[in-house]
Amino acid sequence: MSDEPDLKSAYALTSNAQVEALYEEWAQSYDTGFGQAQGYQSPREVALGFIGLGGKGPVLDVGAGTGLVAEFLARAQIGPIDAVDLSAGMLDVARSKGVYRDLIVADVTQPIDTPNRYQGVVSAGTFTHGHVGPEGLVPLLDIAETGAVFALSVNRQHYENLGFAQAIDDLSDKITDVKLRDFRIYDDRADEDHRDDLAALLSFRKR
Ligand SMILES: C[S@@+](CC[C@H](N)C(=O)[O-])C[C@H]1O[C@@H](n2cnc3c(N)ncnc32)[C@H](O)[C@@H]1O
Repeated sequence: MSDEPDLKSAYALTSNAQVEALYEEWAQSYDTGFGQAQGYQSPREVALGFIGLGGKGPVLDVGAGTGLVAEFLARAQIGPIDAVDLSAGMLDVARSKGVYRDLIVADVTQPIDTPNRYQGVVSAGTFTHGHVGPEGLVPLLDIAETGAVFALSVNRQHYENLGFAQAIDDLSDKITDVKLRDFRIYDDRADEDHRDDLAALLSFRKR
């Protein structure tokens, strides 16, 4: 890949191989070149949403990347936190922060091979264009305890385009207390074409 990774390249991904290649290249510069430079708010919104719902550990951070969500949760004394992500390169950066117990390289749209079970599931920036659709919800429910709190950011356009509302409806025998609250993904530092992008904070409990 010749250009520096950015949102445009991330939203255009069409395979796991492309996801791995892009994030391998992006991992070292992601926190500063993307997170800080674009005023990326999702990790904070997800963490505060989870805490506000009374979420507690053990927590699984889905598409954990470099660990931005866990940095917030760890400051709030929530743990232990495990990370799952397709990109070993992103998880290498996350590991260096010392905020995770286990780091799992896996595709969350498939059954996740872990003996661990979770009281909380969080995710920022992973349910979005070119990444994970509603098919990612069932494998996560399978490794969550009854009563587990989910707090997931879902890109608003992606939510509409991929039929999340229908998927949530179809899961009504497995989940309860479904709530949606929109927030701005970026602040005013973001490039003009993404400055007003919205995500839904999708929260629910496993029945
Ligand atoms: C935009 S980053 C978000 C990282 C972190 N949660 C944050 O908010 O900074 C999206 C992450 O989702 C991961 N990802 C994409 N598709 C995935 C999949 N099918 N299974 C697991 N992780 C995936 C990518 O590797 C990447 O680390």
